Amino acid sequence: MKVKKVYICSNCGHNSPKWEGKCMTCNEWNTYVEEEVQKASAKEVKKESWKGKPKGPSAKPIPIQQVIPAAASRIKLPDTELNRALGSGLVPGSITLVGGEPGIGKSTLLLQLALKSRLKVLYVSGEESPQQIKMRAERIGMDNLECHVFSETDLNKVLKQAYVLQPELLVIDSIQTLTSPAVDSIAGSVSQVRECTSGLQVFAKETEIPVMIIGHITKEGSIAGPKILEHIVDTVLHFEGDRNHIYRILRAKKNRFGSTDELGIYAMEAGGLRQVENPSELLLSQSDEQLSGSTVATNIEGLRPMLIETQALVSQAIYGNPQRSTTGFDGRRLSMLLAVLEKKAGLFFGQNDVFLNIAGGLKVQDTAIDLAIVAALISSLQNIPVSNKVCFAGEIGLTGEIRAVNRIEQRIEEAARLGFEEMYLSKYNMKGLKGKGHKIALRPVTKIEDLIGELFG
Ligand code: TYD
Ligand code: MG
Repeated sequence: MKVKKVYICSNCGHNSPKWEGKCMTCNEWNTYVEEEVQKASAKEVKKESWKGKPKGPSAKPIPIQQVIPAAASRIKLPDTELNRALGSGLVPGSITLVGGEPGIGKSTLLLQLALKSRLKVLYVSGEESPQQIKMRAERIGMDNLECHVFSETDLNKVLKQAYVLQPELLVIDSIQTLTSPAVDSIAGSVSQVRECTSGLQVFAKETEIPVMIIGHITKEGSIAGPKILEHIVDTVLHFEGDRNHIYRILRAKKNRFGSTDELGIYAMEAGGLRQVENPSELLLSQSDEQLSGSTVATNIEGLRPMLIETQALVSQAIYGNPQRSTTGFDGRRLSMLLAVLEKKAGLFFGQNDVFLNIAGGLKVQDTAIDLAIVAALISSLQNIPVSNKVCFAGEIGLTGEIRAVNRIEQRIEEAARLGFEEMYLSKYNMKGLKGKGHKIALRPVTKIEDLIGELFG
């Protein structure tokens, strides 16, 4: 055996004989880490000819008609938001990665699942002792009599205990603390993370026990990123939100057994994570006062419509360069919207600091929020409040046109249900909407100028 040094990208797993500043494959900067790999020399690798008949027992290719279908019964979990994100439950023998930043609530989510379900669960933690887990469990409430906890970091010991216990669900917290003796590098390194995940995958497939793995994500890339695991596992769930806010979103990024459209919404409370069934009512501020810079967007996240408050603050920049700061919204998109406002509507933000907030710390992906953001920016710039009975849905194009958004009916219904009286939307969305007797007044607009004329004129 020869020991060789290689450099592995901790984001995507690409390896290179020398250190590189930027990964050629995933274009991330500063992600290469040094690792030792053992390489069998040419003499040690016995060349096996592929000619002739295969020897010994091994699986054979068979016509697909003869494949016996696995009992496609999904395991329903007691958590409707999690079921939703997974696409109606957990598939036996599947392997699911729950990724997210440290402290966001991954351990809480899966421990809560273990404690509230009626399944026999083995919760393996490499981060906390059984006593620490118990302290957390006491906050959440211990309903399940078959929730077994095990503090261990050695993969082989974990798998042996799991095989003896035969749980209906195996939870690993976290993959970065697990080590396999088969590879000679530290916990959390690319090769360990990869080796342990493969080991868990073989275990899941052979025993039909579903495995849920927690994986930390850090921006610095100091620990192996979950990208390396994404292609090994069946399902990737991403737990996101702002640690200073209570809301969390569980988004499916990859799902071999269902769609990735749906997401789960939670609120982090003193007794653990609460499922949020009706997100709109929480994401709107309760105040009746009309304040400038605050507007409401009718978004669709996952498959659910939700009304979200957006807040903008435009103020005179005093110190040097004007600042642009966003939470929950893409900073580059904000720059784009500001550029459009400048070029097409003659509104100048060049001397102003611009701050933008999405209520609840949610990260939104639906571009239908653009119109509400633009309205909030203008409202703050001109110090004219927008009525809190008005909501918006529309995407802004580079030429300043207001573009149609999908599933407009669903958005209108939700806005009407929550008592909004007026809704600004793209004129191109009006086809087929007229004369439907909506309980809300529709205000079609084609360009930003129209919006300014009607709302702030
Ligand atoms: P945790 O699940 O430990 O995060 P992760 O595993 O992703 O690193 O969650 C950490 C935060 O959650 C911590 O700051 C405390 C908070 N929390 C609550 O607010 N309520 C609770 O019932 C629990 C258990 C945790
Ligand atoms: Mg944790």
